[in-house]
Amino acid sequence: MLKEKRPIIIDTDPGIDDAVALSIALNHPKLDVKLLTTVAGNVNAHKTTENTLKLVSFFDKQVPVAKGCDKPLLIQLEDSADIHGESGMDGYDFPEAIAKALDVHAVEAMKDCILKSTEPITLVPIAALTNIALLFSMYPETKQNIKEIVMMGGSLARGNTNTSAEFNTYVDPHAAQIVFQSGVPIVMVGLDVTSTAVLTKNEIEKIKEFGEVGNMFYSLFQHYRGGSLQTGLKMHDVCAIAYLTDPELFTVQETFIEIALDGPAAGATVADLKMKYHDTTNAVVCLDIDIPAFQQWVVLNLEKIN
Ligand code: BDR
Ligand code: CA
Repeated sequence: MLKEKRPIIIDTDPGIDDAVALSIALNHPKLDVKLLTTVAGNVNAHKTTENTLKLVSFFDKQVPVAKGCDKPLLIQLEDSADIHGESGMDGYDFPEAIAKALDVHAVEAMKDCILKSTEPITLVPIAALTNIALLFSMYPETKQNIKEIVMMGGSLARGNTNTSAEFNTYVDPHAAQIVFQSGVPIVMVGLDVTSTAVLTKNEIEKIKEFGEVGNMFYSLFQHYRGGSLQTGLKMHDVCAIAYLTDPELFTVQETFIEIALDGPAAGATVADLKMKYHDTTNAVVCLDIDIPAFQQWVVLNLEKIN
């Protein structure tokens, strides 16, 4: 018998890897997606909201969607349309969304969802941490009913923006700092790990055969510039969902993470892996992922949706 589904809120900026992550999460038997919130990141928040609504409608789900922050807390938005296309999900002609966004802001929707839940909620940010930072600043009482944060973002190695920072923490470093200082348990699935979690031609050709879901992803993948069809497509955000359902795919370590706020490393997640400078930890970080098992997990989960 399957244990009760884990209640989660996903904060997202679709984004082609976000789209794969949402598709698996919305259809996974271990997960109960209570709410989807959107934020500016890969493209602006209007587009990330439209894209989320299109996905929810595509899968005929009743999950509420709330639009969040249009820009980072203190700095200008630098988007990632060069990777995901102008719409954020270029390549597939989605039908008009039937689902409509809630008429409350994402932060209000999260607060209501968390405070009324009988079970602690897991937050799953796969985008800039702007909404989550505002939630903790405006409604710190929500922290009591959050089980943990499982996030895609940060890096223990190189970045994909400046030399050191991963995109999600780079977009809003001040928000990242608020979240890492919040005291809420954090699992960080960072770029150094997610960049190795690629779908190769082998998996992509299998996915293509999965009916309209397969056609949708195959079409998006032709336009995705996170890696290439030759070297493999990087499934960054999908790793956070895999951690939720199958954590044994990952090797992890507890550590303390600081956020660089400015200068040439702005947005970098500086980890004290040897705990030389801190007495307490504030995060669990992923060090490694079982790539073949992850690839199999993605294919199986996309196949099941059909
Ligand atoms: C992260 O940045 C975004 O472009 C992706 O959707 C992912 O969340 C990877 O650095
Ligand atoms: Ca994302």
